Amino acid sequence: MKVDSVSTLLEDCLRDLYSAETQLTKALPKMVKVASTPELKEAISSHLQETQEQVARLEKIGQIIGAKMSGKKCKAMVGLLEEGKEAMEIDASAPIVDMAIIAAAQKVEHYEISGYGTARAIAQQLELNDVVQLLSETLQEESNADEKLTAVCQESVVPLTKEEDSLGMDQEESEEPDEDDDDLDDDEDESDELEALSTGSRSKSRNSARR
Ligand SMILES: [Fe+2]
Repeated sequence: MKVDSVSTLLEDCLRDLYSAETQLTKALPKMVKVASTPELKEAISSHLQETQEQVARLEKIGQIIGAKMSGKKCKAMVGLLEEGKEAMEIDASAPIVDMAIIAAAQKVEHYEISGYGTARAIAQQLELNDVVQLLSETLQEESNADEKLTAVCQESVVPLTKEEDSLGMDQEESEEPDEDDDDLDDDEDESDELEALSTGSRSKSRNSARR
C-alpha cells in the first residue's frame, strides 16, 4: 500500500483497528462460553457490547474523514485470537483456564490501546478534533476493560486457584473424570480432535481436576 501522507497513514491505522474490532466481535462470544467464573463471563460480555459500539464508532470516523474502513486484515489480531483459542483449549482446571483467557484477552486489549493511542496522536496532529474525541472514547473503554480484567483475576479467579491448591493432589487423583467436556465448542476441527486423541491419557488425568 502506498502511504503518501499522514492522513493516508491515519486511514491505514483505522482500517487495521476496524479489522481488529470486527474479528473480536466474533471471538468474544466463544470466550464468554468457555469462561467459568461469572465475573469473567460478565466482563467479557459487557466488552463485547462495547466492541460492537467501537465498530460503529470507527464507521462514523470513516464517514467524517471520507474513508472506507473495510478492506484490510489486521494480522496481529489474527495471531492474538489464535493464542486466545489455544488458551481456551488448555488442559487445566476451570480457574486456570479462566486465568489463561484473561491473559489472552489482556494481550488483545493492550494491542488495541496501542493502536488507538497511535491513531489518536495522528488525528491530533491533523487537528481532526471530532475524530480525536471519538478515538478518546474508545481508548478509555479499552483501558477500563483492561483494568476490569485485572480486577476480576485478582478478586474472583485467583482465590479459586488458591482454594484448588489447598485441596491438594490427593483429591485430584481420587475424583471421577468429568463428563461435561462437551460445552467447549461446537466447531472444533478434526485436527484438534486428533490432537486430543493423541494426548488422551494425559487429558483424562488432568481433566479430573476440572470443575
Ligand atoms: Fe476494542
